[in-house]
Amino acid sequence: MLETELTRMLGIQYPLFLAPMAGGPATPELAAAVSNAGGLGNLGGAYLTPDQLRSTIRRTRELTDRPFGVNLFVPELPEEQEGEVGQMTTELNKYRAQLGIELNPSIPKSSESFQEQVQVLLEEEVSIFSFTFGIPPHDMLQAMKQRGIVIIGTATTVEEAIRLEAAGVDAIAAQGSEAGGHRGTFLKSDSDALVGTMALIPQIVDHVSIPVIASGGIMDGRGLAASLVLGATAVQMGTAFLACPESGAHEVYKHKILTSHEDSTAITRVYSGKPARGIQTTFMNDMDQYSGIIPAFPIQNVMTRDIRQAAARANNPEYMSLWAGQGLRLASNHSAAEIVEQTMDQAKALLKKW
Ligand SMILES: Cc1cc2nc3c(=O)[nH]c(=O)nc-3n(C[C@H](O)[C@H](O)[C@H](O)COP(=O)(O)O)c2cc1C
Repeated sequence: MLETELTRMLGIQYPLFLAPMAGGPATPELAAAVSNAGGLGNLGGAYLTPDQLRSTIRRTRELTDRPFGVNLFVPELPEEQEGEVGQMTTELNKYRAQLGIELNPSIPKSSESFQEQVQVLLEEEVSIFSFTFGIPPHDMLQAMKQRGIVIIGTATTVEEAIRLEAAGVDAIAAQGSEAGGHRGTFLKSDSDALVGTMALIPQIVDHVSIPVIASGGIMDGRGLAASLVLGATAVQMGTAFLACPESGAHEVYKHKILTSHEDSTAITRVYSGKPARGIQTTFMNDMDQYSGIIPAFPIQNVMTRDIRQAAARANNPEYMSLWAGQGLRLASNHSAAEIVEQTMDQAKALLKKW
């Protein structure tokens, strides 16, 4: 046991969360394995249709009777700018030609509807809901609170954390700039809020009265112990679990995770239109030279999907998005249960020693 305010609130043994990871890595098997090992598994439901979301929740329930959370993206609805989209289509055709896929594909409308996704969470009686990219409407949060759902919002600055607390969330996932995947920033211009975990956690802790979950660059018991000392009441680890057998990450992605280093990542908008940290690829480096305007999220994300999928089919990591944080060199391919156990043993030993 390592009890904190959050472990008591959530009914879990350890203050260790699997970070929600949309797009495939956080499978029901991975989320359930972390929950069964005493941590908190989290499903990344953002890109799932309501039906897929429902079956993913149900599958996870078959694998664990412990609590787990579900995460969604608060939607942004940018206007589609025809000129930008047309220019980007032409640019992306270069990669389509290289990968041997259809040029000028029609751009499918995003099929995920936030309202419908939330409805599924309510119907399936999910007990923990987390979100990123903003703050859901007041009525929605109230409906969840009335049902006793624990709500966790993502902040990358003190100001965002204060706004989330005022909106009524129960805890804050504080995402440092080391973190893999998309930046949760919603108040500042996207790339301004790059505050490291070590600096961010104590500053957020000082300005809110609800529990704070440290996220970004935490890979083992040292990161967990340090986060608790900084005032966090749990940690959220993503990259640490990406290469484990239960993760749904593609094999070449797992290989890249295990062979890349602390300086292998960069923050880029070229895959999705929103800043995200991932291992540097040819696509990223090449598209950095693009002089046009990159369409906003989620338009760019939808536009590059065929390229990322074709690259995955061809086992070519250079055109896939390889989201990962700066703790890369500490990643392993151990099972999720082993990672939880090793992290907890190390943290407990360190906290005792000090
Ligand atoms: C592959 C991947 C996908 C992610 N998807 C989501 C997501 O759907 N929702 C979310 O709130 N955060 C998402 N994140 C961010 C994580 O929740 C978390 O902030 C990050 O993994 C922590 O940093 P670390 O990777 O260094 O542990 C994702 C991260 C990765 C690596």
